[in-house]
Amino acid sequence: MLDIKQFWSKLTKSKPVGVHTEGELLEALDRSKLPQHLAIIMDGNGRWARRRGMPRGLGHRAGVEALRSTVKACSNLGVKVLTVYAFSTENWKRPRDEVNILMNLLIEYLQKEVDDLHRNKVHIQAIGCIHDLPQEAQVELKRATELTCKNNGLILNLALNYGGRVEILDATRKIAALLKQGECRLEDINEEFFGRFLYTGGMPDPDLLIRTSGEMRVSNFLLWQSAYTEFYVTETLWPDFSKAQLFKALLVYQQRERRYGALKS
Ligand code: IPE
Ligand code: IPE
Ligand code: MG
Repeated sequence: MLDIKQFWSKLTKSKPVGVHTEGELLEALDRSKLPQHLAIIMDGNGRWARRRGMPRGLGHRAGVEALRSTVKACSNLGVKVLTVYAFSTENWKRPRDEVNILMNLLIEYLQKEVDDLHRNKVHIQAIGCIHDLPQEAQVELKRATELTCKNNGLILNLALNYGGRVEILDATRKIAALLKQGECRLEDINEEFFGRFLYTGGMPDPDLLIRTSGEMRVSNFLLWQSAYTEFYVTETLWPDFSKAQLFKALLVYQQRERRYGALKS
């Protein structure tokens, strides 16, 4: 295997990243330093469509293809958890037609992909206020999560009707109810305890958060969990996010020094 530092300096100094093939980028990755938990804000579908003079819905459809290939790549690489932001608690503010298109794409994705994901040992989970999604989406999610719940491969968290603030409020309410019933004590409430009541309870915090389409904000995603997550923003619009782009993001992540508030080691 190539030395990552050497490869990276070659990558940045000699030729633009786009020139490197997917295979070269993959080869440069240190498999022992992959993020355990990768989170992605899949953004830019609408702009991708608009640039092509197409309706936004076709951008979302193209986005599903990017999701398919990213899930496959993460599963093959051995990433443990992949959390993708598919629909936020704020996305209900969009026109009803667009919301319907997104919900129908979710249903279609689950119907078409679940068997294949199951064969690849992917464990599908949904995080967010799932009970407020359309009935048919809930049925497909239930089927997918139940079918794949014993799989020991990639955990795929679909963040649907997800909002970081609502998640923190939900956790707070659950803990307050326990306190009220005398089932926990005030002294029990520390970071580790609180984390167990989040939708991601039991999972590691994300090591890397990728946002496509160049937006520099978190848009209410994994607010608690991303306290020390490394951020990577690319101008690439989500439907154009390829395996090579993913490998590049992982290579950048592998060059980061994570200090968690301490000093350089
Ligand atoms: C991301 O793409 C998909 C969702 C938010 C559901 P957008 O639809 O936000 O695309 P832009 O940001 O308008 O380009
Ligand atoms: C974040 O993207 C939500 C998802 C990708 C599902 P948005 O497009 O909704 O975020 P803002 O409005 O640009 O912050
Ligand atoms: Mg957007």
